[in-house]
Amino acid sequence: MGKHRENKRKPVRTGETITVGKAESVPPGRGATVKLKDGTELALFNIGGSFHAIENFCPHKGYPLADSRLYGSIVECDLHGWRFDVRSGECFTAKKCSIESYEVKIDDGFIKIVV
Ligand code: FES
Repeated sequence: MGKHRENKRKPVRTGETITVGKAESVPPGRGATVKLKDGTELALFNIGGSFHAIENFCPHKGYPLADSRLYGSIVECDLHGWRFDVRSGECFTAKKCSIESYEVKIDDGFIKIVV
């Protein structure tokens, strides 16, 4: 189903830990866009106090997932409804179109993402 698009703004894996802000700035059940210095982007989600990060752009037509609706730990792309697990990046709509997920830690109230 559908054609997977390569995301040109997918962060390059470096293993670096990046501090992106205060945990309190992303309330439970909400998403936020994280823009990295090189112009790449992540979608960060707070699922009941547990933080998760995935690529920001939907592999279908590139809509930003950080701006899409959450259903528990599932984000549903607002444009055409593709669904992803924000914990793993697994795509439920088109299995081959799963996206990258990134480790998120909370350290002294700050959100840190391992890219
Ligand atoms: S852009 Fe079509 S489902 Fe996300």
